[in-house]
Amino acid sequence: MNTQESETLFSRALKIMVGGVNSPVRAFKGVGGKPLFIERGMGSRIWDADGNEFTDFTCSWGAILLGHSYPDVIRASYNAMAKGSSFGAPTRTELQLAEEISATVKTAEMVRLVNSGTEAVMTAIRLSRGFTGKKTIVKFEGGYHGHSDTVLSKAGSGLATLGIPSSAGVTEGCVSDTVTLEYNNTGKFESYMDQNGRQVAAVIIEPVAGNMGVIPADRAFLLSLRKKCDENSCILIFDEVISGFRVSREGAQGLYGIYPDLSVFGKVIGGGFPIGATAGKSEVMKRLAPEGPVYQAGTLAGNPVAAAAGLAVLSHLDKSVYQKLEEYGKTIEKLIKSAADKSGIGVTVNRVGSMFSTFFTNEPVKNFNDVLNSRRELYPIFFWSLIRNGIYAPPSPYESHFFTASHAVQDISQLGIALENSFEALKNERRAG
Ligand SMILES: Cc1ncc(COP(=O)(O)O)c(C=O)c1O
Repeated sequence: MNTQESETLFSRALKIMVGGVNSPVRAFKGVGGKPLFIERGMGSRIWDADGNEFTDFTCSWGAILLGHSYPDVIRASYNAMAKGSSFGAPTRTELQLAEEISATVKTAEMVRLVNSGTEAVMTAIRLSRGFTGKKTIVKFEGGYHGHSDTVLSKAGSGLATLGIPSSAGVTEGCVSDTVTLEYNNTGKFESYMDQNGRQVAAVIIEPVAGNMGVIPADRAFLLSLRKKCDENSCILIFDEVISGFRVSREGAQGLYGIYPDLSVFGKVIGGGFPIGATAGKSEVMKRLAPEGPVYQAGTLAGNPVAAAAGLAVLSHLDKSVYQKLEEYGKTIEKLIKSAADKSGIGVTVNRVGSMFSTFFTNEPVKNFNDVLNSRRELYPIFFWSLIRNGIYAPPSPYESHFFTASHAVQDISQLGIALENSFEALKNERRAG
């Protein structure tokens, strides 16, 4: 595969952008080698700067749900842009997007639009503290909630990829009120809350974790979170930046039928443009400025182009989209297991709708420790083999694979062949090793 142009661009990028990228995982440190520069996308496919074509199973880390360059999304964002790209004043489009989110997600009684998932989490945390008058934030190991100071300890995604337990530059003071517990460990969570619940402002969780690979929360665990938050008058925050509008129209909360006080969205609701949203109970949301004392603001917040693109995406998300994603997801799961079986390599596949991960282990994967105990060292070989077979997978063993409503039967068949070849490559590597 010729990657000359990507390599040239990367050399230029290294001189001017730290690590050659604007977000760490893109640098391919999790798989070795050099990143591919992507030139364009259409439906399920993307093309790099050398013209190599891939079926995309990263999908902008879950932001793309309908497919790349989806005609209605192009039309909506173009029409919005033609009217002016930002006013720093209220617009009809942002109102429509907020109304659509609220009409779909029943806990989203009120909505504040921001520019990224990170901002939305930051807002939810400040709001929880402002509302409860308490300090402690409980999060879970391997969960990633963006790069604001409070939540940057023992996180997944880029920190896990680079082996960074906690970011430099985050003062002890910033994380001294953050407590990190084990994901899916109800016993430990309950005993922590029984002793300390009175100090807890919020418990934040990815109800379907997507930043240590995919790990769905156990229902009993989420129920316990809901119960203990109620008992201790603290806010339950579901970080649905990935799962929102992806795992079901009502996100993970709709899937489980367990409801948070605040939710955080991003990715899908911007149709590939920068966006985030904090949403939840009116009595909590009304503590935000200008109605309440919790300050939050943004020059580009509720940007009309991003809102128009997001609205266009949401308008297409009917039952049939989720049925298709589930059906294809089931097929993919079978394909992975059958290719792994043929090669004799043990795997555990975790999947929720159009999010999936392959862990190289025979054991169930229910928390970050289970991920660390899997054979992550196999992932780079697997990844590069997939690339050679025309599949663009996420360049880190800690990230979810995604697909879109534009993926077609032939894309899934291509993935099946690529998987067989890639498990074969792993088997040969093991023999050689
Ligand atoms: C669950 C979750 N929360 C928050 C974020 C941060 O969102 P953003 O990258 O838009 O700041 C991410 C990003 O991947 C995420 O996966």
